Amino acid sequence: MTTKLATYTRIRGQDQTQYASDQPSVNPARFTDVLGTYPVTSKEGVRAACIAAQEALPQWRSTPAPLRGNLIHNLSLLVTENKATLARWLTREIGKPYAEALGSVQEVIDTCQFFVSEGRRLYGQTIPSEMADKRLFTYRRPIGVCGIITAGNFPLAVPAWYVIPALLCGNTIVWKPSEDAPILSYLFCQLIEKAGFPPGVFNLVLGDGPTTGAALVDMVPEGLIDKIGFTGSSRIGQWIGQVTGAHFQAACLELGGKNPLVVTEDANLDLAVEGALWSAFGTAGQRCTSLGVLIVQERIYEHFMERLLARVAQMVIGDPMDPTVTYGPMISQRFLHNLLTFQKTLLAPHHTVLTPTQGQISRANPWPKFQGDPDQGYFAHPVIVAGVQKSDALYREETFGPMVAAVSYTDLEEALHWANDHGYGLSSAIYTRNSAQAFYFQDHIRAGMVSINNTTSGAEAHMPFGGNGRSGNGSRQSGIWVLDQFTRWQGVNWDFSDRLQRAQIDTVYAGGDTGFRVPDCDVAALSP
Ligand code: SIN
Repeated sequence: MTTKLATYTRIRGQDQTQYASDQPSVNPARFTDVLGTYPVTSKEGVRAACIAAQEALPQWRSTPAPLRGNLIHNLSLLVTENKATLARWLTREIGKPYAEALGSVQEVIDTCQFFVSEGRRLYGQTIPSEMADKRLFTYRRPIGVCGIITAGNFPLAVPAWYVIPALLCGNTIVWKPSEDAPILSYLFCQLIEKAGFPPGVFNLVLGDGPTTGAALVDMVPEGLIDKIGFTGSSRIGQWIGQVTGAHFQAACLELGGKNPLVVTEDANLDLAVEGALWSAFGTAGQRCTSLGVLIVQERIYEHFMERLLARVAQMVIGDPMDPTVTYGPMISQRFLHNLLTFQKTLLAPHHTVLTPTQGQISRANPWPKFQGDPDQGYFAHPVIVAGVQKSDALYREETFGPMVAAVSYTDLEEALHWANDHGYGLSSAIYTRNSAQAFYFQDHIRAGMVSINNTTSGAEAHMPFGGNGRSGNGSRQSGIWVLDQFTRWQGVNWDFSDRLQRAQIDTVYAGGDTGFRVPDCDVAALSP
């Protein structure tokens, strides 16, 4: 089926001059399969979407939170009903293996379910006052219009991590999804519309990062956006942090990673091999949480790498609808191009590529266990590189593809240096049976997320997700933690004493007594 999309704002009757051009969306595993064309939103269109969101804000923020939650409940039912359809479009548009695509859609449902009930909590606090006849409270208040810019690797789940809590908290949204998944994003918007969200509460703008994404960020200085949520590269995240910071805003930034996985001498090696394989090559290494540096204890390094390479050789790559494949294509030509460039520029003479092949998979450069036609998609060989040094660009750059650095270590202190020194801090993992080592790792790793005897990837909808250092500014998505991204605390003090009570000054009780009893102590006598 080929679809020609109107944009969401166009459906809502806005000016058609707000669209710059039409672009095709092509299946990355089968070039002949054009899913549809989508209209690129012009800067004027982005501005119009922000104004629509601003106009919808007063009514939406004053809608009671449980009622906002009811609409999220509707959305959860609609996504559940359309789970298989959405997953098929997801696989077709970005090439994610179908089982994974189903999991991604489930993550949207899980996120909805968590926040439906949050609409009936959204708790504030009651706090005792230091003065009589006075009550203190806190409330969560929405921030305003949120500009959400998301990536192509999780085209529904990661947007859901932003937009569902943001809507529940009473914010309105302008969403700029990845240009790699416009059709799927449009389908998601249709479900949002069917769920009953009022016009202007949720707005879609389409196009790439440098044009449409940048236009949305440009709305911060124009006063049309109150909060940016961004998932993408550390470089762009740094720029967004600067723009928003200059306007006294704190963006929610979920950036790159060079996620470490440590294997200790006493680890369950069967489990560690499977864990390393999935962390490195699941989703073709195109997760923010994919494995970047494999760090193996030196006494088991040779043996472990032999086993891992044997397992890599058995891996089926190819058609993402085939249930036997570990991974399908790169999301788009851009992702393949970047990976191939990294393989040219980051590999140095002191490196050893342990895997037998590299580059693009094709009939001329085949992968033995390939399913489908390699010349019809953007498929990449799995690559493991040894001999990496701390000063190497390969150690410091996120490659975002099936390419991993492997190193050995002598003691856990050295393993932690390898795990931390690149400056990223998103996800991490350790495989060990030694609880002291697991706790030590957990205490000293700088990553926002730590797995013990599990992979570097695989978020759950109610756990905090986010990173530190080059991986983000400490903001967290998911669960209760994301509420701090999409609300601001308001402190209220209510004095019903009918007299002026000055805080810090009039904090005395009946009889002028503060209640403190200070032991006798002559400070002057303490002087030498
Ligand atoms: C990502 O956001 O790229 C990763 C999510 C996950 O690992 O589940």
